[in-house]
Amino acid sequence: MKAGLDFVHEFVRGSSKRTLLLLHGTGGNEHDLIPLGREIDPAAAILSPRGKVLENGMPRFFRRLAEGVFDEEDLKRRTHELADFVGAAAQHYEFAADKIVAVGYSNGANIAASLLLLRPETLRAAVLFRAMVPLVPEKLPDLSSARLWIGAGNQDPIIPMSETQRLVELLRRARAEVTIRFVNAGHSLTNAEVETASLWLAELTI
Ligand code: MLT
Repeated sequence: MKAGLDFVHEFVRGSSKRTLLLLHGTGGNEHDLIPLGREIDPAAAILSPRGKVLENGMPRFFRRLAEGVFDEEDLKRRTHELADFVGAAAQHYEFAADKIVAVGYSNGANIAASLLLLRPETLRAAVLFRAMVPLVPEKLPDLSSARLWIGAGNQDPIIPMSETQRLVELLRRARAEVTIRFVNAGHSLTNAEVETASLWLAELTI
């Protein structure tokens, strides 16, 4: 493994300047979201790491103490580790470090939100499916150039709607432009919201 490229990952070249950082959910891996990424933006390059933490054999991006209760020290450390990996991958694969869009699902959406809060320079935009508040930083970053789209299920047994609202408020307080869509669904994604997210991304000028 190359120095700095210390996550098992997939990289797929694209035909545009944009790169999607795909972040899978608990129990997923680096292959899982590639079809979703292709659907969301067929032209973008794809960087898809596998979370390094194992919970009963299931990969995740950071440790949790219980469902929805995160190990904040581990989350912070893993967020910086992931941001450093993304920077090293941009150099290695020669993609633009200022045109990275995270696409995260569940645990992957949570670490994407944590990247926005702790290492805001890593991402220009993000599509977050089923995200929660990962942590509340001591000092809010300036996210005024970040464009965010959040998809939440109004019957999600893991994430109450109030938790999604709390995340939206936190990101808006950091001055991010946030689009929030509640869909008639639980924790699983729907085809319709994937299409809506992809239309939103197609309109973005980065
Ligand atoms: C998390 O641990 O990040 C959330 O509870 C979502 C999940 O189950 O992965």
